[in-house]
Amino acid sequence: MSTILQTAAGKVTTRTLLKMKAEEKKIAMLTAYDYSLAGLLDKTGIDAILVGDSAANVMAGHPTTLPMTLDQMIYHGVSVVRAVSRALVIVDLPFGFYQGDPLEALRSAVRIMKETGADAVKLEGGEEVADSIRKIISAGIPVMGHLGLTPQSINKFGTYSVRATTEQEARKLMHDAKLLEELGCFGFVLEKIPADLARDVSLAVKIPTIGIGAGSQTDGQVLVLHDMLGITQGFSPRYLRRYHNLGAEITGAVSRYMEDVKTGSFPNQQEQY
Ligand code: KIV
Repeated sequence: MSTILQTAAGKVTTRTLLKMKAEEKKIAMLTAYDYSLAGLLDKTGIDAILVGDSAANVMAGHPTTLPMTLDQMIYHGVSVVRAVSRALVIVDLPFGFYQGDPLEALRSAVRIMKETGADAVKLEGGEEVADSIRKIISAGIPVMGHLGLTPQSINKFGTYSVRATTEQEARKLMHDAKLLEELGCFGFVLEKIPADLARDVSLAVKIPTIGIGAGSQTDGQVLVLHDMLGITQGFSPRYLRRYHNLGAEITGAVSRYMEDVKTGSFPNQQEQY
């Protein structure tokens, strides 16, 4: 087995993803925020697990990702890393901990790497955060970028609609994509942009692009685990394929349990000491 593709322990590395792009092998990534689900994901052989700041939405019920703190991201990161032995684990840098000051960005990234044991960090934006990216990478920390719909900037745009639909925005996105590659990012997420633009960007760079709502011609795909499993309710963008209706299964199981408790049929004789 190639030492580039996998380490001795079979661990996926950032170099694995680069090699997958070179070999035109698609990359599958999902989010996870806790030990139990991360362990299940890792068992499937998934390539990468993102400890996304979407935890703010799906774990804590916030309407945006902005309230997430560094300590909270570290808590989720630790929980996921403890369960994972194979997949590449990437932890999001939360809003307000990397944008203004490259040194603060480095400190935040160092805390994530030291305290969680994750493999890499992810942050949102292009040229605006170039100095922060440069600083973090200079310390030997792998960085994944995130372009297109960047949820941490929701208040600037006021909507989660498709991004880069004008020629000017598309040109800026292409510029930022090439810049991320130049800065040394090992890949970047492309969120909710036209499929043709995502294809052109993916062809223009040697690092892998991971799409969410960006069509089929990115180098990989990512979805929020709770969305694709059907746990989250009332969120159904066009790009979301639901692989299960776990929400209905959970409420069904809880209803049956409640009924059993109230009728006295749980626990039965075999379920007691
Ligand atoms: O926080 C997150 O889950 C993300 C993905 C949507 C890419 O950034």
